[in-house]
Amino acid sequence: MARVHRSRAPGIALFVLGVAVGCAPEALEVAPGLADDPVRYMEEVAYRRGVLERDLTESNNEYAQERLALYGLEGVGWDVLPPGDAPSLPLSLDEADLLAAGADLVFEADSAARLEPESIPATDSEWLDLGRRVFFQYPLRPDPIYTALVGLPGALEETGFLQDDGVWVGLRLVDDGAGGVAVAPTCAQCHASLQPDGSLSAVLSNRDMDVGLARLLVMDTQEGGLPPELDSTEAADLERLGPGRTDVLSDQEFNPYALPDFGGLADLPFLHHNANWHHRGTATLAVRCETLFITADSGRTRIPRVLSWALARWFQSLPAPTPLDEAPGPEAKQGQQVFYDSGCANCHVPPLYTSDRVVTVDEIGTDPGAGQSAVRWTGNYRIPSLRGVGRTAPYLHHGAVETLEMLFDPERTEPGHEFGLALTAEERVALLAFLRSI
Ligand code: HEC
Ligand code: HEC
Repeated sequence: MARVHRSRAPGIALFVLGVAVGCAPEALEVAPGLADDPVRYMEEVAYRRGVLERDLTESNNEYAQERLALYGLEGVGWDVLPPGDAPSLPLSLDEADLLAAGADLVFEADSAARLEPESIPATDSEWLDLGRRVFFQYPLRPDPIYTALVGLPGALEETGFLQDDGVWVGLRLVDDGAGGVAVAPTCAQCHASLQPDGSLSAVLSNRDMDVGLARLLVMDTQEGGLPPELDSTEAADLERLGPGRTDVLSDQEFNPYALPDFGGLADLPFLHHNANWHHRGTATLAVRCETLFITADSGRTRIPRVLSWALARWFQSLPAPTPLDEAPGPEAKQGQQVFYDSGCANCHVPPLYTSDRVVTVDEIGTDPGAGQSAVRWTGNYRIPSLRGVGRTAPYLHHGAVETLEMLFDPERTEPGHEFGLALTAEERVALLAFLRSI
C-alpha cells in the first residue's frame, strides 16, 4: 500500500495544514446553503455532496478519496444503492443460551420489523426516539464471527457484551437466508454502556468490549484459524488490543483507537481522534454515519436517510459525561490555578475544555500511527474535551494510558503530551482533583 504521506515533510507541510484548518476562526461557520436540514439531506444529492466536501478536513487520504469518488453523486456510486434496513429481532439471553447449546433457531419474520417509518418524524422528540432505536437496533451486516461467538458458551460475557432487560445489547438476530438466524452487530456493540444509575446510554462507550478477544476465541475453535477474508489481523495484534479499543483501519498496521464517548459530541469541533472531519452539525454526522453504514456493508446497501439523520440527531442530544467528583474540595480550586498556569487552557479551553484548533502529530508527540495511517492520515490529533474526564479512562487517542494519575506521572514511559509532567507532587495532586471535578 502506498504511503505517500510519510515521504512528505511533516514538520512543515502538516504544521501549515494545522494552522490553516484548525485555527481559522471560520472553522465552525456553516457555509450558506448547507445549514442543517433533514429534508434537503434526504432529497438533494447536491446538499449531501456539499456537506461531504465542506467537512472532510483532508481530501487526499484513502478514506476521503473513497467517499469523494462514491458519495453524493447524481445517479451513480453509493447514492443509487438499495436501502438496507433488514428486519431484525433482539437476541434474548435465553435464545443465546439455546444457540450456545447447539440449537437451531427459526427466524420469526412476522415479529421482526424494519425501522424506516412511513412518514418522517414530525417533532424533535420523534426524531430522537427514532435515532435511539437505530443505534440499538439497526443490524449491520451479519457477521460469521459474532454468529460463531454466540455459539460459544460464556463468550459474550467474556468479551464484554452488556445485558439489559433480558437481552444482549449490541447484537441482533437476522434471517440467515435459509430461515434460520444469523447474528449482526449494531452500533451499540461498542458505543453503549450502563450509566451509574443502571440506565443504558451512549454517553460513554463500552470499555469492556474486547473485539480482539472475540476474534481470538472464534479463531481457536476453527481448524486452521479463520478463512482469509475474515482474518485481516495478526493474532498478536488482536491480543494486545485489549478491551475498549478497536483498530478501525483496513490496512495491515496496528493502529488501535480508544472507543470515543458520544456524550457532549455536539460540542466537538472535529470528528475522530485524528480530526478528519470538521463537525458543523447534524448534517456532518449524518453523512459521516451514512457512509459508515455503507462501508460496513461493503458497499452493498445504504441506510435509509431518514434513519441516518435520526441517529445523528440523537448523537447530538447526548449530554457530556458528568464530573466524577461532584463535591470537590479546596484542592480542586488550587488545581484550577495549576491548570491555567501550566498552559492547559490554551488547548483545553473552558468551558468545553477543547478547541477548534488541531495539534500536529509532531507537536503532541504521542504515538503517530493513527494520525499518519495510510488510510486516514491528517497529520493531526484533535484536542479532546475534558468534561467528565475522570470517567473517560483509558486516555489518549489509542487508550494507552490507564489512569489520570499515570498521564501526569513524571515516570510515565508512554511518549507524548508532556504537559504537566514537571509539576511538584502537591501541584499534581491539586491538578488531578481539578480534573476530576470538571
Ligand atoms: C467495533 C467497535 C465499533 C462499532 C461496532 C462502531 N464503532 Fe463507531 N467508533 C469506533 C472507534 C474505535 C472509533 C474512533 C475512530 C476514530 O477516532 O477514528 C469510532 C468513532 C465513531 C464516531 C466518531 C466519534 C467522535 O468522537 O468523533 C462516530 C460518530 C461513530 N463511531 C458512530 C458509529 C456508528 C453510527 C456505528 C454503527 C454503524 C458505530 N460507530 C459502530 C468503534 C466502533
Ligand atoms: C498543545 C495543546 C495541549 C496542551 C497545552 C495540553 N493538552 Fe492535553 N491534550 C492535547 C491533545 C492533542 C490531546 C490528545 C492527544 C492524543 O490523543 O494523542 C490531549 C489529551 C489530554 C488528556 C487525555 C484526554 C482523553 O480523553 O484521552 C488529558 C487528561 C489532558 N490532555 C489534560 C491536559 C492538561 C491537564 C494539560 C496541562 C498540564 C494539557 N492537557 C495540556 C492537547 C494539549
